[in-house]
Amino acid sequence: MTRIDIETMQSFKDWFHEYLMTFSHSQKDVQKNILLKKMHTMRVCEEIITIGSTLGLGEEALIFSELTALFHDIGRFEQYARYNTFADYKSENHAELSVKILKKNNVLNGLNPSLTDLIYRIVSYHNRACLPDGETDQCLFFSKLLRDADKLDIWKVLTDYYLRQDGVSNRAIELELPDTPGISDKVYDAVINKEIVDSHHIRNLNDFKVLQIGWIFDINFKPALDAVISRHYIELICSVLPASERVDSIKAVVRHYIENPFVDEFASRAHDIPGDFTMTALL
Ligand SMILES: [Fe+2]
Repeated sequence: MTRIDIETMQSFKDWFHEYLMTFSHSQKDVQKNILLKKMHTMRVCEEIITIGSTLGLGEEALIFSELTALFHDIGRFEQYARYNTFADYKSENHAELSVKILKKNNVLNGLNPSLTDLIYRIVSYHNRACLPDGETDQCLFFSKLLRDADKLDIWKVLTDYYLRQDGVSNRAIELELPDTPGISDKVYDAVINKEIVDSHHIRNLNDFKVLQIGWIFDINFKPALDAVISRHYIELICSVLPASERVDSIKAVVRHYIENPFVDEFASRAHDIPGDFTMTALL
């Protein structure tokens, strides 16, 4: 099959929900984190449709992008069940695990092999610091779309968590990082230079928050950037960092970027939408 129609998409959604049922757990904490990732996936599907529609994508391309969103984190459930963590550095790369789960369960078997391969690549790239060289325009386009939609919802999950009223910590969301003072040099330098923070340089919760702030430099499409700005995600994360000169400098760099998003950096990031977006053209 080279086309994914609404019915086929529904069968993938049914598989997703059935697969998740196998992870129902009597322990409240475990159930809470499984539900957290399920709801994240559902919202990333909505975000990607919203961004894609605003960009003017046709139905086929929208369904395809929704499929990449539906399966991008399918490895999260196995990761939590097997390792009791969402921290890739303590377990394994969850994007690669997502591809393994799709393969192991023959989920995409009915699709054309080139289409299946394209989905595997997009899923496996979704959490990388940057996209690989040498990929096709289509793969890069849909990868960027997924990465934008994913980031929008991770910001929602994290800011809801940082501003929670109940004060209850969830170590899984915090990736079990220590709440020690300061921001690491390499993390700070990256954000000040508008570069993506390498997750290997994260040492504490402040670093993790700065990494999340730095994601704004990796947003590709205007509808996604508009959403980050209007939802005030960056300001909210800044507000939960301890006041310091470094935080002030980070705020200034981000403010400048947000106020001038279409000069230089953002304009060079935004990807022109190729005219033909039928699935046939993708393969
Ligand atoms: Fe992910």
